[in-house]
Amino acid sequence: MEPQTMPREQLGICAEINLHSVYLMFNAIEGEENHLRPCIANVAEYIHELADQYGDSAFNGFVAIGANFWDTFYPAARPALLKPFPAMSKDNREAPGLEFDLFVQLRCDRYDVLHLVANEINQMLEGLVELMEEERGFRFMDSRDLTGFVDGTENPKGQHRQQVALVGNEDIGFKNGSYAHVQKFAHDLSSWQRLSVKKQEDIIGRTKSDNIEYASEDKPLTSHIKRVNLKNDQGEPMEILRQSMPYGSLKEQGLMFISLCHTPDYFEKMLHSMVHGDGAGNHDHLMNFTHALTGSSFFVPSVDFLAQFEE
Ligand code: HEM
Repeated sequence: MEPQTMPREQLGICAEINLHSVYLMFNAIEGEENHLRPCIANVAEYIHELADQYGDSAFNGFVAIGANFWDTFYPAARPALLKPFPAMSKDNREAPGLEFDLFVQLRCDRYDVLHLVANEINQMLEGLVELMEEERGFRFMDSRDLTGFVDGTENPKGQHRQQVALVGNEDIGFKNGSYAHVQKFAHDLSSWQRLSVKKQEDIIGRTKSDNIEYASEDKPLTSHIKRVNLKNDQGEPMEILRQSMPYGSLKEQGLMFISLCHTPDYFEKMLHSMVHGDGAGNHDHLMNFTHALTGSSFFVPSVDFLAQFEE
């Protein structure tokens, strides 16, 4: 890497919404790390090039390295704040940890392109990894979660996405990387749909059909919005970039929740506020209608960080 050039971020971190997604979780085969390192660099470069080739269908993606795998894979240096998923539970609210060595997110407005690229990447990694989980996501209606509520409205916009999601000069060796948390949530839609629309809206803190935020004084302390809208010690809003999409089939469906941020702390504080509440008994009532099946922590390095290990 030229010392003067800005490391290129992986384009899936801050990408705008897409129609389709593929999520691949891999574990590395022990002893193959030396072969895998250049291969991961190639995969990231390949994804980067395809974003150009399939620009018309908004192809993007990234490859991320698991918190527990990092030191084995890149023993020389570690992102300053990288740590395993902050598993937690309280009463019926579970946020379990389930770590994977590698995570590949691919997104595109063409399903055929995604399928082709997923196959291609799987082949590039053959013999070096084991595919542990595969899930496909889709845009539902006008970007709604399967609960029927628009998801992503308060996400950072424009250039602010980069400021929120990417590591800056505070950890120069990992600049333009991002801390990623992934939770696969399975919804209990039959219970949810038995609620009146007003009850659902009180749980989210926004109206359903026209997606209007409740006035501050009307937001229940147990609403999702109230529980995740937090401020840091300087009184500034804690912001994460959510890249979640609905997934599933009739047997199991929900939200593939994905948070990207320049620090892992904001996600952890929000999750804590959802699960444990505010200390006065107010937890997130959305958690009564969905449960997390997984919880994984990754770092998404810049393309140029990974390229150091190309052969
Ligand atoms: C906002 C759904 C999990 C953090 C929202 C909104 C919906 C929603 C409908 C309102 C629209 C918007 O601004 O996007 C869900 C569902 C979840 C889930 C269905 C799981 C099944 C989480 C988790 C976190 C989180 C695990 C973080 C730990 C946020 C944040 C906002 C938000 C930061 C924006 C709040 C604001 O500034 O108004 N979510 N969410 N969500 N959610 Fe979630």
